[in-house]
Order: sequence, then structure tokens, then C-alpha cells
Amino acid sequence: MIKKLLTVSVSVALLSGSGFVYAQGNATAGKTKAAMCAGCHGDDGNSAMPGFPKLAGQHPGYLVKQLQAFKEGNRIAPMMAPLALGLDEADMQDLAAYYAGSKISANPAPTLPVSDDDDAPEKTDEQKKAELAKLIADGSDLYRNGKLSTGVSACIACHGPHAEGNKPASYPNLHSQHADYLVKTLTDFKTGSRTKNRENMMHMIAAKMSDADIKAVSLYISTIK
Ligand code: HEC
Ligand code: HEC
Repeated sequence: MIKKLLTVSVSVALLSGSGFVYAQGNATAGKTKAAMCAGCHGDDGNSAMPGFPKLAGQHPGYLVKQLQAFKEGNRIAPMMAPLALGLDEADMQDLAAYYAGSKISANPAPTLPVSDDDDAPEKTDEQKKAELAKLIADGSDLYRNGKLSTGVSACIACHGPHAEGNKPASYPNLHSQHADYLVKTLTDFKTGSRTKNRENMMHMIAAKMSDADIKAVSLYISTIK
């Protein structure tokens, strides 16, 4: 009986998870279907708007997983979710194959965001440059080593030395992503508003990050080519 139950649960797991991952999408069909995504994500998946994620060069397994999560309402995104509702499995595979085969564009050199504090004295260019360099160095340190004092895991363990992610495991590629999008999505993980899936490991990790950690690591990742 136990053996039978095990067999059933294993096959259900295969159907619900990896059934998609093993299917191969058609990139040519995906290119045509991507016309309705171009307004926000760019023709080739390199969105021009810093708040909209680049999809170019992303691992297909990750893209399909996100599209399913939008469609099922597990990833909360009022702008994006309605667009996933109309996609079937083949559409998702084709779109993922198209974007995965496109090259992600490098970002322009970062500049320090303007201070929110109107009363703060105007910073000199030298001060701004030093502040930016410090942020990127802090971000690089967090990415590589994590933070022992607050228990933040090292990002490198899962996202790789060049922030290239892990294709077989469908861990996302992060390098050259827009810093603004990274800040937003890490903050959403931190507050629990990105996904309804409490088991998502990024919830646990981002919950331990300060806003300053998020800003620094996002800026650093956005500069990795
Ligand atoms: C109206 C603008 C808009 C359109 C059109 C749009 N998207 Fe999005 N998409 C977004 C936004 C905004 C996000 C970020 C959602 C969030 O806040 O987490 C997103 C996120 C995504 C993600 C997750 C990326 C990641 O790194 O996690 C995927 C995949 C995606 N979109 C695919 C598509 C596809 C495929 C289409 C076309 C069928 C499409 N999008 C059309 C705005 C759009
Ligand atoms: C234990 C493995 C693991 C570690 C460590 C880890 N991540 Fe992740 N990360 C993941 C997985 C898995 C996902 C995909 C989550 C999903 O499906 O929603 C992800 C997603 C993300 C995303 C969303 C990407 C997108 O396109 O929307 C960002 C940003 C991110 N991680 C940044 C980080 C940072 C920064 C760190 C270090 C502080 C880190 N991760 C540490 C596994 C990890």
C-alpha cells in the first residue's frame, strides 16, 4: 500500500513539475508570439524600461515556471498576470525558447540616484563617485560572502560566480538585469508580496536583508556583464 502511494505521488510530482521542463519550445513560433510582449519587455527581451524585467538570455525552465505562477495566481503581479492567463503550455515553452536564445544587453554605467532628502547639502561629483563605488563594493561582498551577522546566504551559491544562475535547476540568471527591477522584486520577496508560495527560498533569504543590502546587491548585479 505504501509502495503504491509512493508511486502515485512520484508520478503526480513528475506531471506537475518536470513535465513542462522536458518539453522543447519552438523559438521561431515563440518570436511570433512575443509580439504581444514587446511593448513592455522589448522586441528581443531587453526591456527599455528599468522597472520591467529583461527576459533575454533567461533560462527557459525559469521563464516557464514564472509564467505558470502568474497564470495560477501564485506570483502576484497585477500588470503581468492577466497576460499569462491566455497562454497555454506550448505558448509558454515557445516564448521561453525564444527569449532564452536572445542575448541580454549590458546596462549603461550606473549613476547614483538623486537623494530623497531635499534639505541634504548638494554632493560633489567626487562624493557621488565614492558613494557609488562603496555601494557596489558592499553589494559584491554580500553577493559573494553573504552576511554572517544577519544570516543572509551568499547569492553565489545558487546564482553562480557570474550571476548566470543554474540552468538545470532553473535558478534564474541575474546578471545585467535592471537594478530597479531587482530592487523591486527583492523587496517584494522581503515583504512576502511576490509570491503566495511560502516555501519559496527567496522569501527566507530576502527577509533577512536590509533595504541597504537590497540596494547594494541589486546595483552590483546590474553591472555584471
Ligand atoms: C503591460 C506590460 C507587460 C506586458 C505586455 C508583458 N509583461 Fe511580462 N512583466 C511585466 C512586469 C511589470 C513584470 C514584473 C512583475 C513583477 O512585478 O513581479 C513582468 C514579468 C515577467 C516575467 C518574469 C521575469 C522574471 O525575471 O521573473 C516573465 C517571464 C514575463 N513577464 C513574460 C512575459 C511574456 C511572455 C509576455 C507576453 C505574452 C509579457 N511578459 C508581457 C510587464 C509586462
Ligand atoms: C538556495 C539558493 C538561492 C540563494 C542562496 C539565493 N537565491 Fe535568489 N533565487 C533562487 C531561486 C530558486 C529563485 C527563483 C524563485 C522563484 O521561482 O520565484 C531565485 C530568484 C531570485 C531573484 C528573482 C529574479 C527575477 O528575475 O525575478 C533575485 C533578484 C534573486 N534571486 C537574488 C538573490 C540574491 C541577491 C541572493 C543573495 C542575497 C540570492 N538570490 C540567493 C535561489 C537562491
